Amino acid sequence: MTFNIALVPGDGIGPEIVDAAVAVLKAVGEKYGHGFQFETVVAGGAALDQFDVPLPKESLEKCLHSDSVLLGAVGGPKWDTKPGHLRPERALLGIRKELNLFANLRPAKLLPMLASASPLRADIADKGVDLLIVRELTGGMYFGPRGRSQGDLGETAYDTEIYSRGEILRIGRMAFEAALKRRKKVCSVDKANVLESSRLWREVMHELAGEYPDVAYSDMLVDNAAMQLIQNPSQFDVIVTSNLFGDILSDEASQLTGSIGLLASASLGEGTRGMYEPIHGSAPDIAGQGLANPIATILSAAMMLNLSFGLAEEAKAVETAVEKVLEKGFRTRDIASGGSYVTSGEMTRRILAEISCGS
Ligand code: IPM
Ligand code: MG
Repeated sequence: MTFNIALVPGDGIGPEIVDAAVAVLKAVGEKYGHGFQFETVVAGGAALDQFDVPLPKESLEKCLHSDSVLLGAVGGPKWDTKPGHLRPERALLGIRKELNLFANLRPAKLLPMLASASPLRADIADKGVDLLIVRELTGGMYFGPRGRSQGDLGETAYDTEIYSRGEILRIGRMAFEAALKRRKKVCSVDKANVLESSRLWREVMHELAGEYPDVAYSDMLVDNAAMQLIQNPSQFDVIVTSNLFGDILSDEASQLTGSIGLLASASLGEGTRGMYEPIHGSAPDIAGQGLANPIATILSAAMMLNLSFGLAEEAKAVETAVEKVLEKGFRTRDIASGGSYVTSGEMTRRILAEISCGS
């Protein structure tokens, strides 16, 4: 089969990590007899430099016509002073919204050989970390009405958290369905003791919990969840939460696994097309130095194989290859715990070799 993939390298380390994932996809294609066709899409700061807009129409069109999108990262200090609608991040938010990718799946798993890279105390790490954050991605504070005005205390700015029943239902369903394929637990994270939008969120989640009697359901306030993630992460299976809370908690969860350079994500909607991206940013300070960890993007490509293309075996082969390389002791700088480390290119070559020779 042939799959058309739109590549959005973006900024900073984006291009190098996307190259790494493309090499992995090509190796998978060769080994298993699939064709992957790649089309590069300019977006983010790169598009601002060339076209003065973060997401040119043509770029969006290419994403809309692809079977899936693989994105590196967007943003950097060069564009930090741009007004909101001209920031590189708008490209990312624009693609998510226009492709209606309302569900962002962010798995965080602590691999045993990386326990020393995790800041967790050994007795906590030993109990395991294997959770999936299901983050709402096209609503909430990121997309609500915003603006500035003059108030009694000077200039005033606001953003609005808005959620409809329909938005909560569809993200909730994703979470419950995901839980059925895992350890059958859903924890919904909100701030229902203060926010009205969270109270609706909680009501709808309770309705859904009634529809899924096989799933053990709980609610947790976001401040408590931030604490519980460190204190007792093994209690979590699927966490479902809003756009803003999910953004924050997924960075926190990434640290439990050793590095944000390991965390992949899938953004999905109703159909099979998704966007796949590492959860980390563009890290302009290390761009082009061979220091970036390509694993998060490579594992994002594996999620694409599995979730958008139905290639579960191929996805597993990529994950196994990554684990084997880590088991053999190869580390990029972010997970080296002060020891010796290999370049991004070397890490990618090791993973490619495992894929080619794996069974
Ligand atoms: C993420 C990132 C983005 C987000 C930024 C770059 C807009 O932090 O994917 O987690 O907040 O969604
Ligand atoms: Mg984030």
